[in-house]
Amino acid sequence: MSSSRTPGPARPYTHEMVVVHRVFRRESALLPRLVRAVPDGDTQRAAVVGAHLTEYVTGLHHHHTVEDETIWPLLRERADAVAAGADVVVRMEEQHARIDRTLSEVSAQAPAWRLTADRSAATELARVLEEHRAALLEHLDDEERLVLPLVEQHLSVAEWDAVGRRGLETVPRDKLMLALGSLLEDADPQERAYFLDKAPLIGRLLWRAFGRRQYAAACRALRAPLHGGTRQ
Ligand SMILES: [Fe+2]
Repeated sequence: MSSSRTPGPARPYTHEMVVVHRVFRRESALLPRLVRAVPDGDTQRAAVVGAHLTEYVTGLHHHHTVEDETIWPLLRERADAVAAGADVVVRMEEQHARIDRTLSEVSAQAPAWRLTADRSAATELARVLEEHRAALLEHLDDEERLVLPLVEQHLSVAEWDAVGRRGLETVPRDKLMLALGSLLEDADPQERAYFLDKAPLIGRLLWRAFGRRQYAAACRALRAPLHGGTRQ
């Protein structure tokens, strides 16, 4: 990795995972609030929030699948010398399985709520989303605290970059600007420069030309009820 692509001397190359996790932390906090804010019976609004919920579930599922298929096998292979290495991988796999169960619960509840936007269905869906978030946060904290230092010891920068490319491949092309916006929303200037620098030139141009406005409009449309508004 060239020095222009590193996030800064104080941050290891794995810091990009922390920025990606921030998206899941933010959206998992917003989702139960968004569900509760849908007026009783407003199926149109439930469809908007439900579409975002589906995107979230799909995005998190892809994120974990890429980790399952790339990071864990490499760590399992190489971190044996580190006594705690194998245990950490087992813990990550168990946490992924637990998160999968909470996501299955969410996916089981969501269709009934979307159909009616019924108040009690919303309350139940918000409850399972809160349970999901608790499992997710425990996992993200552990992954950042326990796995990222192991990655820095046992995976090369090229291997880490390959993980990032696999992750990027899971994003549909027509969702790339929204994904970039989601990453940049809570990024500090250093993180922002890092991700924009990684994007190809055409991506940066598209972001400046329309991507950032598209993302801002999508956020306004989705979150307006949380800020006391009802319209975009
Ligand atoms: Fe992760």
